Amino acid sequence: MDTTSARESLWLDALPDRARPPLRGEHVFDVAVVGGGFAGLTTALLLKRQGLSVAVVEADRVGSGASGNNTAKVTALQSTVYSTITARHGQATAKTYADASLAGVSTLARLVREEGIDCGLRHAPAFTYAFAEDEVGAVEDELIAARAAGLPVSADAGLDVPFPVHAAVRLDDQIALHPLRYLLGLADAVDGDGSAVFEHSRVEGLHDGAPCRVRTADGVVTAGRVVVATHVPLFDRGLYFARLDVTRSYCVAASLASGEPPTGLAISAGSPSWSLSAYEGQLVVCGQAHPAGERAGSPYEELEAFARKHWDVAEITHRWSAQDPSAYDKLPMIGPYLPGSDRLLVATGFMKWGLATATFAATILADAVAGVPNPWTAVFSPHRVSLKSLPDLVRMNASTGVDLVTARFTPADATNSDDLPPGQAHVVRDGLGKMGVYRDREGALHGVSLRCTHLGCLVAFNAAETSWDCPCHGSRFDVDGAVLEGPAATPLPRREPK
Ligand code: FES
Repeated sequence: MDTTSARESLWLDALPDRARPPLRGEHVFDVAVVGGGFAGLTTALLLKRQGLSVAVVEADRVGSGASGNNTAKVTALQSTVYSTITARHGQATAKTYADASLAGVSTLARLVREEGIDCGLRHAPAFTYAFAEDEVGAVEDELIAARAAGLPVSADAGLDVPFPVHAAVRLDDQIALHPLRYLLGLADAVDGDGSAVFEHSRVEGLHDGAPCRVRTADGVVTAGRVVVATHVPLFDRGLYFARLDVTRSYCVAASLASGEPPTGLAISAGSPSWSLSAYEGQLVVCGQAHPAGERAGSPYEELEAFARKHWDVAEITHRWSAQDPSAYDKLPMIGPYLPGSDRLLVATGFMKWGLATATFAATILADAVAGVPNPWTAVFSPHRVSLKSLPDLVRMNASTGVDLVTARFTPADATNSDDLPPGQAHVVRDGLGKMGVYRDREGALHGVSLRCTHLGCLVAFNAAETSWDCPCHGSRFDVDGAVLEGPAATPLPRREPK
């Protein structure tokens, strides 16, 4: 049940009505960047500053994906990431992650300043805090790990929230901003003087040769290098989908009748986590993460109840969600798309901390194109092997196999949709298979095949987002089967609803 009429991200309000032109005809650039999010546009700007001509090819609008649906925190303190990385990869790797993340924060601030981007940037402390007493140990461990990694953190319970905080780690001088205004500023800086940003241009084909060719329905970009910055990498080369876990999380923004939202950028260390920030007096609460494709429960209602319990909420004004891929070994993947490839580059696996991570990813990729040695390259290579994390890789892909098999034996919900209420969906037997049927608010039925067009897992209905989501690698489809998020590139076949 909807508790608010708000449907969209706080940030997407800033999206201009008029899109940039799509790619049409044949064009030659030095570099083609696929994806107009933080990683793609930052990489494009750094490459343009090297004197290269760059085409950014975006399937939808700039920032319409995860970049316009995030928590707007730019910070090197990221929940309990240093405890995790230290345990899996050791202290030296955690230090590299800290160095790169701090550099990501400062590079972003520098780009805002140098390009004169009006995005409400403010400096604020970041916190990892214990919401419950049983989270204190994790917070204390994170303080030790983050300090050992070289972050100038302190133990600080001074987070300005209206509930008890049992412990906290603090990192000063991090950043909050309006992410879409920042992204639009990057796009303006990239577009022109021989470079271009194309919107509504879904890439349908890639030829990895000398030169490379990137093809959309109406155009082709020929380029010496291609950077794939599409969140989950487009194209099924390199088996990225099999090495990435995808989670979905949710946010609400609230105006307050009295009192103030926190000034800090905070996230609790437990599960569920409560992520807190503010923009221009509005409270932003995020969390309720779950593996993509699993039933979501009532995430918006939980976030709204949390906000109303602790603040004097006047109105829930916005709500949004996003999916985030994490590599099986909990480090981003940045570098050659395939082993030894220097023409095709990729960045993915930002673990929900895309603003800082995309920015340092862009530095690594721009250095790779320029042939400049970068001290972080080896740690974030997409082709590293983490023996300690191999059990996670096996688990992820075993569960894909389980989904492929067991979902087929799960019984249908009904034999027909006569009693299906508006706004709900169910699974109906369809000959030897099954179809998904959704009844919209006007009463019309929408039927689709449930077999994901990526590798054939069965999609499940996400009532919070009114979409069919795949549990295997996170593809999402609307109620008529259109692709909302990849790796799937082909719509679900439509079915005549029963
Ligand atoms: Fe891979 Fe659906 S996303 S099978």
